[in-house]
Amino acid sequence: MSKIIVLMGAPGAGKGTQARLLEERMGLSHISTGDMFREMKRAETPLGERLRDIMSSGALVPDDLTIRLVEERTGQDDCRNGYILDGFPRTTAQAEMLERLAASRGHRLVAVFVDVPFDIIEKRVTGRRTCPVCGEIYNVYFKPPARDEVCDLHPETRLNRRADDNAETIKARLATYEQETRPLLDYYERTGRLRRVDGTRDSEAIYADIEKAVNGE
Ligand code: AP5
Ligand code: MG
Repeated sequence: MSKIIVLMGAPGAGKGTQARLLEERMGLSHISTGDMFREMKRAETPLGERLRDIMSSGALVPDDLTIRLVEERTGQDDCRNGYILDGFPRTTAQAEMLERLAASRGHRLVAVFVDVPFDIIEKRVTGRRTCPVCGEIYNVYFKPPARDEVCDLHPETRLNRRADDNAETIKARLATYEQETRPLLDYYERTGRLRRVDGTRDSEAIYADIEKAVNGE
């Protein structure tokens, strides 16, 4: 049966990093609601402006908009044989919607929790840099590019710092995560679908655990 891999974890836990490896190596589509909203917020429209406000405050985008977006994206052809969700679901309403979606399309769900304590998160997030062309994720402390502030694959492109990667917004994002999203871990645990991996090690060791968790299903 086709699978939906749900990557869970605090801001900066490494969901995007692992999702990109899974996409490349397992050939499943990577759906990041954060990336989709970042793309949408660039538009000079009332919606773009609203998203800029919400995301810079560290709050969540409303469920109705988020759910509609995921419903539409996962209905596309490349998701027929399963996909990776990075940053979704984040609320009970989103998790309920995903259950209905998975059931209606005959997909089985496995939730993988990338566990990283909060004291490590700060360096992960403040050190993050992203290539605006290919989306490659770097870290000035843990995974620096070969040349400072420049993508290895796109040497003509300066790396970006995310607008929400500042100390104040990170604090708010962590609080939102604790309140809205962490309770979903209990839900997936109770229903026997949660796998925990230690997210403090290097990316390849984490990937190996995720692969085992997903294939062991
Ligand atoms: P989103 O973009 O999903 O952000 P997030 O959940 O805060 O997670 P991050 O992207 O910050 O971290 P990550 O876990 O992907 O870590 P990464 O791999 O980059 O959401 C942004 C906003 O959009 C939300 O605040 C909300 O407003 C809105 N939103 C999104 N989805 C929503 C939803 N479903 N509902 C409502 N609103 C929603 O890694 C971080 C850094 O660590 C990088 O520099 C990386 O190189 C480094 N790193 C990774 N792994 C390792 C390792 N093993 N060792 C050392 N360094 C590592
Ligand atoms: Mg991410």
